[in-house]
Amino acid sequence: MEEKVNITICLGSSCFAHGNNVNLKFIKDYLKDNNLMDKVNFKGELCNKLCNEGPVVVIDNVTYKGINKMQLEQVLDKTFKHQ
Ligand code: FES
Repeated sequence: MEEKVNITICLGSSCFAHGNNVNLKFIKDYLKDNNLMDKVNFKGELCNKLCNEGPVVVIDNVTYKGINKMQLEQVLDKTFKHQ
């Protein structure tokens, strides 16, 4: 069985206000549009103490700090490029 990709988005108030509100919707839409919903474990977490460097998104154990929608798209494209 194929390993699932783990995506965790920080939903603490600082990250959320600094871009993860937009990133959350972007990831959801990306997964839906590309039929990837059953290939990922996508979850939110509360503040993980990196607020100053947020917004924080963790994809397969790599922590992306200060990530915006465009960078996210690149990471997701790279992660799922075999599709
Ligand atoms: S709110 Fe995301 S690290 Fe604190």
